[in-house]
Amino acid sequence: MNERKNKLAIRGLSKRYGAAVALDHVNLDMIDGEFLTMLGPSGSGKTTLLWSVAGLNNPDEGKIWIDGQEATHRPACGRDIGMVFQNYALFPHMTVAQNISFPLEMRKVPAMDRKTAIRQALAMVKLEHVAERYCNQLSGGQQQRIALARAFVANPSIVLMDEPLGALDKKLRDHLQFEIKRLHAELGMTVLYVTHDQEEAMVMSDRICLMNRGQIEQIGTPQELYFQPKTLFAADFLGESNLIAGTIVGEENDCLTLELPGIGTVRVRSGNTPVSGSDIVHFTRPESLSVLLDADLRDNRVRGQVKEVFVSGAITKLFVDVGGASALRVSQLTDYSRCVRKGDIVTIGWADNVGNVFSGKQREAA
Ligand SMILES: Nc1ncnc2c1ncn2[C@@H]1O[C@H](COP(=O)(O)OP(=O)(O)OP(=O)(O)O)[C@@H](O)[C@H]1O
Ligand SMILES: [Mg+2]
Repeated sequence: MNERKNKLAIRGLSKRYGAAVALDHVNLDMIDGEFLTMLGPSGSGKTTLLWSVAGLNNPDEGKIWIDGQEATHRPACGRDIGMVFQNYALFPHMTVAQNISFPLEMRKVPAMDRKTAIRQALAMVKLEHVAERYCNQLSGGQQQRIALARAFVANPSIVLMDEPLGALDKKLRDHLQFEIKRLHAELGMTVLYVTHDQEEAMVMSDRICLMNRGQIEQIGTPQELYFQPKTLFAADFLGESNLIAGTIVGEENDCLTLELPGIGTVRVRSGNTPVSGSDIVHFTRPESLSVLLDADLRDNRVRGQVKEVFVSGAITKLFVDVGGASALRVSQLTDYSRCVRKGDIVTIGWADNVGNVFSGKQREAA
């Protein structure tokens, strides 16, 4: 991975719209062939960042390099970039085939080769039969698929995709997720992707970049973001979690003893997040917790009453009242031989190395 060259480098990039700060001194590097997904709340700056890389807005500060060449103010047409944006801006006065042909013509691809490439691109999105239609004669989802075909057809150096699968039904979305990953692997393009769908981000990406208020909150592999969130915001934003406010009452080597009001004492290996002060928020993922049999040993055990049971196929989700302000979430594989029912008194357990703590002050900031 380290041998691949740097495709994109962004340093100190800022963009304001009047008083609104859309990007706030963003630094980002992507290596050639990487698939990087931006996640984050609405308004956190994801689209603005993509537009800056595409050359569709003028940053107020900072610089962008593509393939080692400075491109901050290079016009969009000189950047060898394929794009699929939120509002899939196809040319309405052109047919589907003419739309897909456009990036090929810009790159002076001969007519015969264009025909083959257009046919293959339409087959990828399963829309061979609409080649001669005008784009305003297509549904929103179909237009989005044509926009995908147009973004990939010329094998550009970077593909920018802003929620390209947002308006599609699940089956088509699954198919196109697979197709995008296949094309990415086959053609070796660098892909900068935006989605609101966390599962999509987790399965498709080499790395995820979590944005918050125009800044990068955390960047890393999907596993790093999911299991080692560095801030309370990251822990709270991604996936489901148990976040319980409490205090540190003891510390020995790397193991903290916490007092969680209503719940009692739990232990946690302090992990990678430095905390200041004794007010903390304790973090665990629901799947790191399990319902124990009497003989099972765990570093942390708490008794509680099952408030809700949701069986969603392979996974069963439990909400267990353990005396704290909110119920503990526990996710486990559905097991009919050890079926837990609403009202049961159970013991929930977890190891001391699956949790983490964040400074209580972060909670106010988040
Ligand atoms: N053309 C514009 N004029 C004024 N403000 C804008 C403009 N475009 C974006 N903004 C503001 O900049 C901030 C970042 O917007 P951006 O579109 O990048 O967010 P986003 O992360 O893509 O959100 P979403 O998930 O809703 O698409 C927001 O506060 C938004 O209101
Ligand atoms: Mg957006």
